[in-house]
Amino acid sequence: MKVVVVANFDSMSAEVAKIVYGQISKKPHSVLGLATGSSPLGVYKLLVEYHKMGTDFSKVTTFNLDEYVGLRPDHPQSYRWYMEENFFSKVNIKKEQTFIPNGVAEDLEAECLRYEDLIKQAGGIDLQLLGIGSNGHIGFNEPGSEFGTITRVVDLAESTIKDNSRFFESIDEVPTQAISMGIKTIMQAKEIILMASGGSKADAIYAAVYGPVTTEVPASVLQLHPAATLVVDQAAASKL
Ligand code: F6R
Repeated sequence: MKVVVVANFDSMSAEVAKIVYGQISKKPHSVLGLATGSSPLGVYKLLVEYHKMGTDFSKVTTFNLDEYVGLRPDHPQSYRWYMEENFFSKVNIKKEQTFIPNGVAEDLEAECLRYEDLIKQAGGIDLQLLGIGSNGHIGFNEPGSEFGTITRVVDLAESTIKDNSRFFESIDEVPTQAISMGIKTIMQAKEIILMASGGSKADAIYAAVYGPVTTEVPASVLQLHPAATLVVDQAAASKL
């Protein structure tokens, strides 16, 4: 695993946006795996700027890592809403080429299998963006998730519910389950970029980079990926 340490959130965002831009330039029909949360916000902002300067997203297909169970796509805290607000509506990507698990599907198990199938039909993910939870999760694969897992319904860890309550009016409104790509799904991506910013991620980054490869720190599995890069700012890298 390659580790790139940059000064701060803005330089992390610039570095990752440059990698995404390079991917799309090299392969206009790229399949991107996307994340939500605070970490990629600067990347999406910069990609919108790239688009204003001419970058074409019309042939790109995207698959998001996860979606909360029980939130409709028009719920302001749903990840579909987040993606529309921060990225999709601001570039020329085709809506039918943007995929996010449906957290209100009648049959959630079938939805997970359908999602996994859609990724396969698209030819697999070329470049997967990841954030990392303070507990080391990737996607919503919480500590203890087996490395062989595919897209499925997961229970969110208490620490994740607490971390994500900042986006909701109260902690009671945070969904307790999500649909998440599995560790195996993520590891099948041809290239993976994990980004992290801030001191609250320092322990998780240390464990992911130097710790043993263990299901207790899901991000540590990236040590086994042939093309994984961590782009971390100095605060997140402070324990390396
Ligand atoms: C989001 C996701 C999560 C986040 C992680 C970090 O789609 O899958 O794994 O990447 O929880 O979140 P932030 O970036 O908000 O610190």
